[in-house]
Amino acid sequence: MSPLIDRYNRVIRYLRISITDRCNLRCIYCMPQEGVPLLKHEDILSFEEIGRIARAFVHLGVSSIRITGGEPLLRRDIIHLINKLSSIKGISDLSITTNATLLSEYAEPLKMAGLNRVNTSLDSLYPERFFEITRGGNLKDVLDGIDSALKADLKPVKINMVVMRGINDNEVIEMVRYFRGRPINLRFIECMPTNRKSFLPARHFIPMEAVEKKIRREFPLEQTLVKGVGPAHYYRIKGDLLRLGFISPISQHFCGNCNKVRLTADGRLRLCLLQEDKEFYLGEALQKGVSDRILTRMIKKVIMAKPSRHKLVAGNMESCKYEFKGSMSSIGG
Ligand code: 5AD
Ligand code: SF4
Repeated sequence: MSPLIDRYNRVIRYLRISITDRCNLRCIYCMPQEGVPLLKHEDILSFEEIGRIARAFVHLGVSSIRITGGEPLLRRDIIHLINKLSSIKGISDLSITTNATLLSEYAEPLKMAGLNRVNTSLDSLYPERFFEITRGGNLKDVLDGIDSALKADLKPVKINMVVMRGINDNEVIEMVRYFRGRPINLRFIECMPTNRKSFLPARHFIPMEAVEKKIRREFPLEQTLVKGVGPAHYYRIKGDLLRLGFISPISQHFCGNCNKVRLTADGRLRLCLLQEDKEFYLGEALQKGVSDRILTRMIKKVIMAKPSRHKLVAGNMESCKYEFKGSMSSIGG
């Protein structure tokens, strides 16, 4: 089967599948305090449906699959799903994005089920600040979760820090110090304006260049050849296992090299993280009983509508006026 190529000649090799829109945290950059309206239980794709869609994508050349949420570890029988997906021939990279609050319990079983690696979030090393940013999270759970992932050899463990001016930007150096010496990819991410109700004022936006400068003043960084499937540029401090990544979706968008599409928990194919109108309802097609052949054909056709780039501007509410339906938690980051 020929690979999945969009109209801008981007080859799609990466599928992110959200398996639930529920989350046990309420991060300030992701959703409002009161949470977001949740999908109806009966609209959530079953593991069978997820498996069918995953196989169709693998058939079309996708080799990396990431499971996201909400918080994916909240979904019952997640281990069963990982088992199922890891047995699909053609997936060389199976990973999960989790807030790590439940990871200490799940790391080992996930590894046994065939998961390759994890991405986690961590925006502060101070318990009270962590609690405030996540609106209720317990820092220790997350640090324990990260340790368990390392122990379970879910490598590389990636840690995302969304850097916000005046909120946690004074911690970037400490974060590097804390994780030095461990086989971790610590990634600093620019905060994106996503959802009207959880939109952070422009004054909290800090361009990645400024973060990188701050870190370079403290540590001598050298570029590494580690090139993941994602958009981070990686550096290392000489001789250290820790890798540092800088991700700037706003100041230097990387849409030209975008190789991924997303599937929401209710089976909508989302061609761009930040463009709401470009969604196609594969879940409905499955319910109507399409064959695998037709499903594959549909996917190939829909991919052609992948937009060339997002239109977000730092701290500019107008730039996301298409209105991000729900929140990042419904799309899976
Ligand atoms: N801006 C940048 N990154 C975000 N994430 C969630 N919301 C935002 C946002 N507004 C990222 C976090 C988290 C992952 C699931 O998505 O880094 O780790
Ligand atoms: Fe935070 Fe992720 Fe939950 Fe959003 S989905 S509230 S970013 S842990």
